[in-house]
Amino acid sequence: ASAAPVARERTYIMIKPDGVQRGLVGEIIARFERKGYKMAAMKLVKPSTEHMEEHYADLKDKKFFPGLIKYMTSGPVVAMVWVGDGVVAGGRVLLGATKPSESAPGTIRGDLCIDVGRNVCHGSDAVESAEKEIAHWFPEGVAEWTSHSESWVYE
Ligand code: TYD
Repeated sequence: ASAAPVARERTYIMIKPDGVQRGLVGEIIARFERKGYKMAAMKLVKPSTEHMEEHYADLKDKKFFPGLIKYMTSGPVVAMVWVGDGVVAGGRVLLGATKPSESAPGTIRGDLCIDVGRNVCHGSDAVESAEKEIAHWFPEGVAEWTSHSESWVYE
């Protein structure tokens, strides 16, 4: 069977407070840029508890939820939108497995962190959640721009 064409998508990527505090912002952004994904939006924000609880609403019954919210609101995060063919799944490949003990070397988490409770970055897990998260973090909308590398990244 032939593979289905890969759709142009948007994903929500967030550098968590530990990534910002540890000076890993440039390192993480560089990996998305080098891959060929296009940055569509970026801002540094210090999120409120309510905003972060809404972002992680699906996890509210987990025992780690209170600690997760405390960690995620402890300092600024870098909120970003990245665009590309298959970028939702592909972005999670760059991030690596949720638990750094299971994330492969070469991935952001595999290379840069040790503890699941300090795993430096977030990436949407599906196209629908990506669109929901982009609307949540960028209610002002995302401006369009044309990348001049497009014809070198895509056939
Ligand atoms: P989850 O949505 O399962 O993973 P991902 O971030 O890869 O989409 O979990 C959200 C975050 O919750 C995860 O990045 C780190 C935190 N977390 C813990 O602190 N302990 C845990 O056991 C799990 C599964 C997640």
